[in-house]
Amino acid sequence: MKISVAIDGPAGAGKSTIAKMVSERFNLMYINTGSMYRAVTLKAMEKGIAFNDIESLCELIDNMEMHFENNDLIVNEENVSDKLTMPEISNNVSNYAAVLEVRKKLVQIQRKISQKYNVIMDGRDIGTFVLKYASFKFFLTASAEERAKRRYKELVLKNVDVNYENILEEIKKRDYIDSTRKINPLKKAEDAIEIDSTNMSIEDVVNKICSCIQSKIS
Ligand code: DC
Repeated sequence: MKISVAIDGPAGAGKSTIAKMVSERFNLMYINTGSMYRAVTLKAMEKGIAFNDIESLCELIDNMEMHFENNDLIVNEENVSDKLTMPEISNNVSNYAAVLEVRKKLVQIQRKISQKYNVIMDGRDIGTFVLKYASFKFFLTASAEERAKRRYKELVLKNVDVNYENILEEIKKRDYIDSTRKINPLKKAEDAIEIDSTNMSIEDVVNKICSCIQSKIS
């Protein structure tokens, strides 16, 4: 039987850092579903396709071959990972991710990967929808201020010119859109273990998740 680990939570809760570390301990393929929504946003914006132009969006996704290599997202042979965290993409991704047709197509790709590999997948709707029957489910949270602080530090390290207040505002706006949208909103699955990482180190969170997994597989 395939192992699948679902990690959901709001923007900046530390999902991707933590999922990568857990993936190494258990030899799982790490699938960052947020980066798939970001890649659709990137390619759509490059081509001037608005989020309400459903037909063009569907055609765009049908012509995007996406796969992960060493935790990077490759789209039509291009490693797009560095472009995906730019503020322009962050500010627009929630609108594209709220489109039903976009979600249907990306969920289909995500489920296909999980049927082939042991995966750890992070996102917003993994435990509630994409991998409803995941072997393990976690819901990772942290205060909006702490999450904005982490994003700010991350972007400063990449030499991106940013402002903390703008990031906090963007995070709050995204939380609102992601958790109030009609289709598969951000929500804790009933059977997910909730971890508030506001006052926890990355190692503490990783150890907590790993011990939950380990206790059930050994
Ligand atoms: O995790 P992230 O910040 O990279 O996600 C980018 C956006 O994509 C986020 O605003 C919500 C959306 N998303 C989603 O709707 N469903 C997912 N499974 C993953 C991300």
